[in-house]
Formats: sequence, structure tokens, C-alpha cells
Amino acid sequence: MELKNKIAEINDGIGSATIATKEELENYRIKYLGTKGAIKELYELLKSVPNESKKEFGQLINQVKNLAEEKFKSASENLSGTEQKESSGLDLTRPGESIELGARHPLSIVRNEIIEIFNRIGYSVSEGPEIEDDWHNFSALNFPPDHPARDMQDTFFIAKGDGKDPKTEIALRTHTSSVQVRVMETSKPPIRTISPGRVYRNEAISARAHCFFHQVEGLYIDKDVSFADLKQTLLYFAKEMFGENAQIRMRPSYFPFTEPSAEVDVSCTLCDAKGCNVCKYTGWLEILGCGMVDPDVLKASGIDPQEYSGFAFGMGIERIAQLKYRVTDLRLYSENDIRFLEQFKSAF
Ligand code: PHE
Repeated sequence: MELKNKIAEINDGIGSATIATKEELENYRIKYLGTKGAIKELYELLKSVPNESKKEFGQLINQVKNLAEEKFKSASENLSGTEQKESSGLDLTRPGESIELGARHPLSIVRNEIIEIFNRIGYSVSEGPEIEDDWHNFSALNFPPDHPARDMQDTFFIAKGDGKDPKTEIALRTHTSSVQVRVMETSKPPIRTISPGRVYRNEAISARAHCFFHQVEGLYIDKDVSFADLKQTLLYFAKEMFGENAQIRMRPSYFPFTEPSAEVDVSCTLCDAKGCNVCKYTGWLEILGCGMVDPDVLKASGIDPQEYSGFAFGMGIERIAQLKYRVTDLRLYSENDIRFLEQFKSAF
């Protein structure tokens, strides 16, 4: 009876032992599982138990021993686990921190797309200065001084010239046609290039006009370039930009540097040319101006109009982006409102 009590007591001791540190674990091991521990002592006591009860007591002591060993094992596993967590400071189950992705500006997206479309048919990219002289922006392009066509492109003047040499009068460029003059002056035909860039005009700022915007202008000069080449090139562009179903139409227009000149409309991609409030129920959207380069412009840049002919076109990037993304107010492009800009995250 005495041994039974002792076994029960040890059993309870094991059950209620708290093992929270390495030190407590070691104390527990010595107390119950050590060579002079409680379990060993029980086996010693078993020797003096009468033979007929040996089996019963032996089983009880084995149970206590197993309990003591299991508790030791799980406690030492727990302890080494927490130790690892503390030492590395890492919780591998935490959700990761997401990386905020930036977005390209819609005008950059559209500019890059226009460049790619023309690259595919052999156009190079040329750039020039935003602060331009009168010669490259106006005079070489057939805008004589005081000609009313200059009113269409009033700009910000920086330095008044000497009144004789147009290269001494400095202003912010009103179109990137100025870059085309520079290309014609410095290279020989065949020329096939586009000029993307920022341009300026003296306009009251509203939803439909701004004092600066962006253009891509194109120039193609070679022998026997015809109006049919121009039309086919622009149809190709419209289909690449707005989809296979896009159609174009040309309306007669006027630019001092092209003859004949045209405005180009693309069939409204929003309503499939059926008529909506964006195309003002006409089924058409104006996207660019174009024409055959005026012989006087070729001459002014040192190219012989008897030998060469060419076409030019120019479009506003804001306008194309407006049609692609339905941006209804031009001012949104330059306000830097993150709620506007974030919408283009997946667009490139
Ligand atoms: N430069 C003209 C503009 O800014 C566009 C244009 C370019 C028209 C080339 C015809 C030919 O309005």
C-alpha cells in the first residue's frame, strides 16, 4: 500500500511540474529521470515487492516512467522551438509586405506606343530644343513675319531679335515641326523620322486647351513620295492605335508649310462610328493635321523640290490619350493627382 501511494504521488508530481526554462527542464530530469531520481527509486522498491504483486506494480511503475519521459521530451522540444524563434527574430508565418508599383504617366504610355508604331515602318526618332528660334519654328516653315497664320500659334517670347535675322528671335516652340526643319537642314533624303516633344501656346487654360501640350510630328521625304503614301501611312497608324476596324477620312485644311493640307479624322472607336457625345454624333474624331511638304519649305532647308517630295503630319499626344482613356479634362494630365495617375498602373 505504501508503494502504491508513492507511485501516485510521483505521478501527480510529474503531472503538475511546470517546465518553462532550460533550468527547470534540467531540474525535472534530475528529479524524475536521473540515476538517483524518483523513477529509479521506484524500480529499487519493486525488488522488495512480493512476487505475486510484482507484475501489477511493475506495470504501474512503467506507466509513470513513460509519462515522465514523454513530458521531458515534449518540454525540451517546446523550449528549443521558442529559443529558435527568439534568436532569429523571424516569424515565417507573417504575411509579406507588398511592394507598391509605380505607373507610367498616360502621356508617356501613349507617346511610347506612337513611337513603336512608327518604328515598325522604319521611322527614327528625332528631338530638338523646346526653346527655339523664329527661323526653325516659323520662318523656315513659310510663316512670313506678320502673317496671320502666326496667330494660330501664338507663344511665349523670350528674346526679341534684331529685326533682320529670324535666328536671333527666341521663343518657346509651338510645334515640333521645328525639329523637322533641323533634320532637313542636317541630313540628306531619304528622311523618315518622327519628333515627339513638348510644345507651348499662348492659350487660356481650360478643359480643352492648355499653355503646353505634347506632340508627335512625322516627316517622310524621298523621291516620288505621294499623297497616297501619306494616306496609307496614316490609315496604318489609325488601325495600329485604335484597332483593326478604325477608318480615317481627310478634310481639306490649311497649314503654311504643307500644300495640299488636310485634317484627319478617325472613326469613333467609342461608339463604332454610330454617333455618341464624344464624337458629337458625327461618328468621327479629329486626330491630326497633315499634308505634302510645301516646296518652299524643302528649299528653305536646302532640299531640291525638283528631285524630292515628302509629306508631314502632326498629332497631339493628349488628344490620342483622351480618346484611348476617355480623359475629359486636359488639365488632369499636369495636376499630378495621384488618384488620376494610379489608374494607369496596368497600362504599360
Ligand atoms: N505643326 C502642325 C500643328 O502643330 C501640325 C502639322 C504638322 C500639320 C505637319 C501638317 C503637317 O498644328
